[in-house]
Amino acid sequence: MDGIIVKRENVDFLRNGDESGLALLLEHSNTEIMVQKIHKNSLVWITPADEKDMVEFFYIVEGEVSLETSNETIHLKENDCFYTNRLEHEVLLRSHMDLKIFYVSTRPIYNNLDSFNNDLNELLTRIDEKDRYTKQHCSRVADLCTLISKKLDCAEKVLNNLVIAALFHDVGKCFIPAQILEKKTKLTQEEFREIYKHPSNSKKILKDKFSEEICDIAQTHHERLDGSGYPYGLSGTDISLEARIIGVADSFDAMTTKRPYNDPKTYEDAAIELCEMSDKYDSRVSDALKELVLSGEFHKFLNEVEYDRD
Ligand SMILES: [Fe+2]
Ligand SMILES: [Fe+2]
Repeated sequence: MDGIIVKRENVDFLRNGDESGLALLLEHSNTEIMVQKIHKNSLVWITPADEKDMVEFFYIVEGEVSLETSNETIHLKENDCFYTNRLEHEVLLRSHMDLKIFYVSTRPIYNNLDSFNNDLNELLTRIDEKDRYTKQHCSRVADLCTLISKKLDCAEKVLNNLVIAALFHDVGKCFIPAQILEKKTKLTQEEFREIYKHPSNSKKILKDKFSEEICDIAQTHHERLDGSGYPYGLSGTDISLEARIIGVADSFDAMTTKRPYNDPKTYEDAAIELCEMSDKYDSRVSDALKELVLSGEFHKFLNEVEYDRD
């Protein structure tokens, strides 16, 4: 078709509804022009391109976002733009409000991105349908891991792998029968055995979507320094730093959230308690968490993100 071409298919979700998603507006000579809609408080990431000459350009049409690297947080708002060129590691992007981004790539990327996004959404929906608590817990643990790894000055690669693994660490709970997940009384040995399977099931589910490193981190988030964890009973530095950070963040979130079988502890008490369990939790990690909590940094962060806690 020649002349002016008006394109409406695929983009209606941008005008109405609260659906998030990615729309391809134009594809021409390898260049793609897209628009992406992302919900408030979502974590997404920009991955390094295989082709060194690829440039990705982003223009914020609506909303506010921060770009997280291991040593800085860049806040961007409506009408700001940025581009990536020769990116070495993933960049995490957190939306503070519902976000609309205009996105240009000098290499075709839409099909891969779209199917990857669909896979991730399917995973998140699977967690949510099974157990709303688990989905919210995973995103709080991912946030806490970001704060801790920054406090520890972790390398960018550690931060990125860690956050992605944290976001999906409990996805394997999809296979646990609902009556066990929702049980309000003490679990039997057999029921515990079902629970113990979830880290390995998380790895199985994530295997086709993420690197082996990320899958291994998710699988080992319940390992403890003294070898008392599961599924392998790994000890000390056989447990990766990333898994040790998730271990602390995961337990902290469980201790401070109201569950049918326990009353929540205060953030301060939970952080101090974790520091006292240095046989199980890496004290460098729990000390960093304690510092975040006692200095008020953690509370400041909580005020910014406004979690649903139902
Ligand atoms: Fe878990
Ligand atoms: Fe967890």
